[in-house]
Amino acid sequence: MSRFKDGASADVLVIGGGVIGLATAWRAAQRGLSVRVVDPHPGGGAAQVAAGMLAPVTELQYGEEPLLRLGMASNARYASFAAELEEAAGRSTGYRATGTLAVALDSDDRAELGDLHAFHQRLGLDSSWLTGRECRRLEPMLAPGVRGGLHVADDHQVDGRRLTAALLVACERAGVALHREEAAELRVTGEAGGAVRATGVVLTGGDLLTAGQLVLAAGCRSHLLPGLPAGVLPAIRPVKGQILRLRIPPAYAPFLARNLRAVVRGQHLYLVPRADGELVVGATSEEQGYDTTVTAGGVYELLRDAHELLPGITELPLVETGAGLRPGSPDNAPLLGPTALPGLVAATGHYRNGVLLTPVTADLLAEYLATGRVPELAAPFSPERFAPAGARDHTHTTGTTNAAATAARSQP
Ligand code: GLY
Repeated sequence: MSRFKDGASADVLVIGGGVIGLATAWRAAQRGLSVRVVDPHPGGGAAQVAAGMLAPVTELQYGEEPLLRLGMASNARYASFAAELEEAAGRSTGYRATGTLAVALDSDDRAELGDLHAFHQRLGLDSSWLTGRECRRLEPMLAPGVRGGLHVADDHQVDGRRLTAALLVACERAGVALHREEAAELRVTGEAGGAVRATGVVLTGGDLLTAGQLVLAAGCRSHLLPGLPAGVLPAIRPVKGQILRLRIPPAYAPFLARNLRAVVRGQHLYLVPRADGELVVGATSEEQGYDTTVTAGGVYELLRDAHELLPGITELPLVETGAGLRPGSPDNAPLLGPTALPGLVAATGHYRNGVLLTPVTADLLAEYLATGRVPELAAPFSPERFAPAGARDHTHTTGTTNAAATAARSQP
């Protein structure tokens, strides 16, 4: 049941009904706020393509410690988030506590993984080094040439499609109003010298929806919202990922018991086996604009590299290919919290970590929306770290630091 009478202003209006927007809307509604979501296809977005690896430890990049803290916090709350959501929606999220094995195929990969293990140890993270034989004992289908690996017991997985479908139901049950239209323009009042504030959006059909606070969660299209004043949000670049879905016939099970990762010829590869027999193989990383074409080369490289790791993979039916766009901020860390434009809050720029960071983003945003206080965990990810000096005149007091601005510059 929606909490709204037609045309009434909402406490919160979320622009973008992908996994981040829906989770934020659900959590905000649970805090007693009236919430609207605007999206022509709510429940869509990058999570429809994502493999759903929850891998803050195995995906760790040097210099990304603030992001690691956020990822660990989100991972730690995933099991209870998924259980609560499944209860609220009456359907599965596909959350699965499998752990992850990252393996090396040659001595260069082995040295790189060894460095990652040492980095884990310096940071007190839980990962253990295994010989090639120990890796194959865990995963008998691995290629005989695997030289060693890292086992990370707490890097799990969730199914992005089931997760967003569950969030959509939970939102509807919590009274969130879904507007299946495009936001055509952001409404900003007070341009003529008064206090400037975001107050609503005009939909493509012409309706105006107003709200006390607006959350911009439109992934790699967030900065393209017409009417958004210059300097409020940096460009969020689309980073294409091509991905494959195969099926493990029951006769082949257990083909792979846990998430598997490797770097093959410098490219990151991962395989995520779902409980229902789906095996997701990802992903390319391509920066060429808003293009989601699946290419023969992308599919070839993924299959070639996966075959080196798991030779038996070529026996499996290939059931789907796809490509999605990761929303990359200038420093690859997310933008969480109030922007330099009063009334406008950001929840975007999650890059490779949108599915992982969903629970923590929703909790932090809902806390801010309900109380007006930026939680400490969100402070390093203030969108204002990108605002030009002039645009900061309207800023809120948040205790924000710029730690994230120096984080996450290294490209995986
Ligand atoms: N987190 C995996 C990816 O972005 O490919």
